[in-house]
Amino acid sequence: MTYQPQEDFGTPASRAEEQVSLTIDGRAVTVPAGTSVMRAAAEQGTAIPKLCATDSLSSFGSCRLCLVEIDGRRGTPASCTTPVEPGMVVHTQTPRLQKLRKGVMELYISDHPLDCLTCAANGDCELQDQAGAVGLRDVRYQPVDTHLGQAKDQSNPYFDFDPSKCIVCSRCVRACDEVQGTLALTVQSRGFGSKISAGLASDNFLGSECVSCGACVQACPTATLVEKKVVEIGTPERSVVTTCAYCGVGCTFRAEMRGEQLVRMVPWKDGKANRGHSCVKGRFAWGYAQHQERILKPMIRKAISDPWQEVSWDEALTYAASELKRISGQYGKHALGGITSSRCTNEETFLVQKLVRAGFGNNNVDTCARVCHSPTGYGLKTTFGTSAGTQDFDSVEDSDVILVIGANPTDGHPVFASRMKRRLRKGAKLIVIDPRRTDLVRSPHIEAQHHLALRPGTNVAVLTAMAHTIVTEGLVNEAFVKERCDWDEYQDWASFVSQERNSPETLEAITQVPASDLRAAARLYATGGNGAIYYGLGVTEHSQGSSTVMAIANLAMATGNIGRRGVGVNPLRGQNNVQGACDMGSFPHELSGYRHISDGATRRLFEGEWGVPLDPEPGLRIPNMLDAATDGVFKAIYIQGEDILQSDPNTHHVAAGLEAMECVIVHDLFLNETANYAHIFLPGSTFLEKNGTFTNAERRIQPVRKVMTPLNGYEDWEVTQLLAQAMGLDWNYSHPSEIMDEIARLTPSFAGVNFDRLDKEGSLQWPVNEAAPDGSPIMHIDGFVRGKGKFVVTDYVPTDEKTGPRFPLLLTTGRILSQYNVGAQTRRTDNVLWHEEDLLEIHPVDAENRGIKSGDWVRLASRAGETTLRATVTERVAPGVVYTTFHHPMTQANVVTTDYSDWATNCPEYKVTAVQISPSNGPTDWQEDYAKLQRSSRRIASTVEAAE
Ligand code: SF4
Ligand code: SF4
Ligand code: SF4
Ligand code: FES
Repeated sequence: MTYQPQEDFGTPASRAEEQVSLTIDGRAVTVPAGTSVMRAAAEQGTAIPKLCATDSLSSFGSCRLCLVEIDGRRGTPASCTTPVEPGMVVHTQTPRLQKLRKGVMELYISDHPLDCLTCAANGDCELQDQAGAVGLRDVRYQPVDTHLGQAKDQSNPYFDFDPSKCIVCSRCVRACDEVQGTLALTVQSRGFGSKISAGLASDNFLGSECVSCGACVQACPTATLVEKKVVEIGTPERSVVTTCAYCGVGCTFRAEMRGEQLVRMVPWKDGKANRGHSCVKGRFAWGYAQHQERILKPMIRKAISDPWQEVSWDEALTYAASELKRISGQYGKHALGGITSSRCTNEETFLVQKLVRAGFGNNNVDTCARVCHSPTGYGLKTTFGTSAGTQDFDSVEDSDVILVIGANPTDGHPVFASRMKRRLRKGAKLIVIDPRRTDLVRSPHIEAQHHLALRPGTNVAVLTAMAHTIVTEGLVNEAFVKERCDWDEYQDWASFVSQERNSPETLEAITQVPASDLRAAARLYATGGNGAIYYGLGVTEHSQGSSTVMAIANLAMATGNIGRRGVGVNPLRGQNNVQGACDMGSFPHELSGYRHISDGATRRLFEGEWGVPLDPEPGLRIPNMLDAATDGVFKAIYIQGEDILQSDPNTHHVAAGLEAMECVIVHDLFLNETANYAHIFLPGSTFLEKNGTFTNAERRIQPVRKVMTPLNGYEDWEVTQLLAQAMGLDWNYSHPSEIMDEIARLTPSFAGVNFDRLDKEGSLQWPVNEAAPDGSPIMHIDGFVRGKGKFVVTDYVPTDEKTGPRFPLLLTTGRILSQYNVGAQTRRTDNVLWHEEDLLEIHPVDAENRGIKSGDWVRLASRAGETTLRATVTERVAPGVVYTTFHHPMTQANVVTTDYSDWATNCPEYKVTAVQISPSNGPTDWQEDYAKLQRSSRRIASTVEAAE
C-alpha cells in the first residue's frame, strides 16, 4: 500500500462496556464510557489538533493545543484529558479555539528550527502537520533565548536525538515508562530549561538504561528522535504489514519502504500480539538481510574437504536430487531424512516434512523445536489435550498473580515482558522461579514478592513442594477439580504430593529454596486471584522437561487457574515459528495437528491428498539420525534454516554424525557451522523476501508478506518445491496460499484458515474450525480438549548429570536481549555493540576460590568438552551456579553440554551441565581453528560479492 501513517486517535481506547452518547460539532456519537472527547471526535472523523497526545499513551494534557468548548462549562478544556459525559455538547472548531491554538503553535514554532525542507522528517512530522492544521502562517515572536543549536546525541546505532527540535511534549518519556517499562528517560529541570535526558548516569542514549526498543522514537511527534535510516534513505513511500522473524511473541510491523529499500520497521498498532510495541531486534536488527556474508548462489562440492564451487540453481538441484536418489537406491529409503526450521514459515515447514514423507518415503523428519519446546507439546497434550499454551497475550491484563518459571522474558520475549510489567506496575503480584536473578526480579517499580532461586535441575521438586503446600493446607479449588478433571487421578496425585518426602521442608536440601519462601509463594499462587504461569526453556530443556510441564499443569488445575482470562499455562516460545513447526507435522511420529503417524484414518487422509502410501512407522529424531549416521546406515539429510552444529547438544557428536554422511544439503542464509559438513548449499531467503505465515506462542497464525524480491531468486518454499520436482514429484504450488489451503484440508485445527481471511482479519488463533469459527483466544473454557483434565504424578528424579570433585559447578544457559539464539542474524547487525561475546557469569565466592576476576579468560570444562570465554563476577547467580549465553560460535557453549535429554521427547538437557571453571590464557585450539574457518568463509562471501 502507499505510505500513510497509522491513524492516531489521540488517547487509548476504553474497555468499558457502558456506552455514552454525546454531540460533537452537531453530530451524535456514542462511545464507551471513559473515552476522551479527543478520541470520540476522532472516531467520528474529526481530528482535533494535538501534540502531546497519542493513542498509545495515557493522556497528559501539557501542550494545550487540543482545547475545545463544551456547552455549560467555563473555559476551554483539553479534549485529551476530558472524558465524555452523557448529553455533552462539544465544539471543536470555533473562532476562539482557532485563535488560541494558533497562539500555542506560534510559541512552539518560534523556538523550533525552520529547516523543514532539509529535515529528515519533512512530510512525516506531526509538528509540521499541526502547524498546517491550525492555520499558522507566520511567527511574530523573536525569542531572546532558544533551544536551537544544541549538540545531537548520535550514540545509538539506530536512532539520533536532536534536542534542538524537541518540544518537550514528554511523549518519549511516557512511552519509555508506560509502554516499554524501562524508565530510561526523564524531563530534567522545569519551565524553559526543561529538557529530555537519557538517564542520570549517562549523558547519552547508548550509555543509559535504554534498551533501544524504539518506543520513544515512534512516539516523538518531531524529528528530535529519528531513525538513522530515515536520515540516510529518506521518508518511506509505501508499506507492507508483516510479522517479525525473531522470537515467539510474533510482533506485527509495517515494513516501510522507499523503492526496494527498507527504511524502517514500525510496530503496527493493530498487531494483536504486540499492540504497537517492539524490541530492538524486530525494530532495528534487520540489516542481516543485506549482509555481505549472505550466500546468494548455490554451491556444491563432492567432498567436504573440497572447495565450494558456485553453480546454477538447476545444476545444484539436479545434483542434490541425483544424490538423494542414489543414496536411497544404494542404502535404502531409511538412509534419508530432513530437518524443518522453526525460523521458516508454516508453508515452508509443511513442504519439508511432505518432501520427507511423500518423497523420501519415510518419517525421518525432525525440527529444531525438538531442542526447545517438545516437552511443552508432550506435557500439555497429556494433561489438557492440546500441545499449546492456553491464553492470548491480552489475558495478562487480567492476571492478579504472575508466576514466571524458567523464563527471562525481558531478554527473551521483551515485548510481552513490557506488557507483563505494565500489569505488575498496576498491582499484580510476581513469583519468579529461576536459579538466576533475572531483570524481572527487580526492575523500576517492580519487585517480585518471591524469587525462588532454585538449584538448576530441581524444577519438579519445587513444583511438587508447591503442590504439597496447596493440597495439605486445603487450598485446592475442589469444585473446579470435581467438575473439570478426573477425580480419581486427582486423588492419586493429591496423596502423592501430600507425602512428607514432597514437603518444602524435606525438599529444601535438594532445591536450596527456603521452605518458608516456597510455602508463601504457593499460597500466593493458590489464593491471590487469577494466577497465570509463564514458562520458558528453563522448564523444558531438562531431563525432566516433560514432567515439569505436567507439574505446572497440575498446579493450574488444582487451583482452578485455567479456562478464562487472566489465568492459564503459557509457554513462551523461543523462535518465531516454534509453535508452527510443531503444528505442521515436523516430528517423526506426528502428522500436522499432532496426529500420530500410526493412525490409519489420518494416514489415509494424507495418502488421498498426496497420492502416495505413507510409512506407518515413526521415523528418527535428530539425535537418532546422527547415531544412525555414525553407525553407517543414515547417509543423507536436507536441513532447512537450522544450524544443528551450533544449536544441538554435544557438538562433537553432531560433527561426527554429519561427517559420516554422503550428502548433507544445507538450505540457509549464511554458510553456518553445519555447512562446514555440507556437500550442497542452497541459498535461503529472509522473512522480508517471502510470503507465508508464522504461528506465535499464542497459537496466533499471522501473515508474513513479501517486502522485497528475494536476493537469491527464490523464496524457500520454492526451493523445496524445485528439489521435489527434481526428484520427480508432481508439485505445482504457485503461491504459499495454496499450501495453506492444503494444510487446512488436512488439519482439523486449521480448517477455517486461509490467506483471504488472514488478510481481512490480520491473524487467527487456532483451533479455527466449525466449533470455533473465529478462532480460540483462550483454550479449555468449558472443558478440556481431552475431556477431563488429567493429573499426572511427577516424581522428582535427579538428573544423571552430577556435580563432583572434577566438575563441582552447575552451568545453565540463556539469552540476552540484543542477540538471538546462535546469533546468525543479530551478530550481523549493529546489535553486536551490546554483546560482542558470550560471558561467563560466576558468583564472587566461586570466582575468588579460583582466582578469577571480571574480564579474565576462563576455561569452561565439562565431561563433554571444553571452551574458553571471559568471566564476569556477579551475584546474579548463586554460589555453585555459573551461567552463559550461547550467541557466539567462537564460544559454542554446546561443546560442553551433554547428551542427556528429556525422558519423553529427547529435548536436550541444556540447562544443567556439571562444569569446572579455571583460569585460562585464551581461546582453545579449536576456537583458533574456528576463527581461521570464519576468515575463510568471509573470503568466500567477498569473492562471491566481487564476482557480481
Ligand atoms: S528506545 Fe525504548 S528503552 Fe530506549 S529510551 Fe526509547 S523507549 Fe526507552
Ligand atoms: S524528544 Fe520528541 S517526544 Fe520527546 S519530548 Fe522531545 S519532541 Fe516530545
Ligand atoms: S519481541 Fe520478539 S517478535 Fe517482537 S520485535 Fe522483539 S524479537 Fe520480534
Ligand atoms: S494534545 Fe491535549 S493537551 Fe496536548
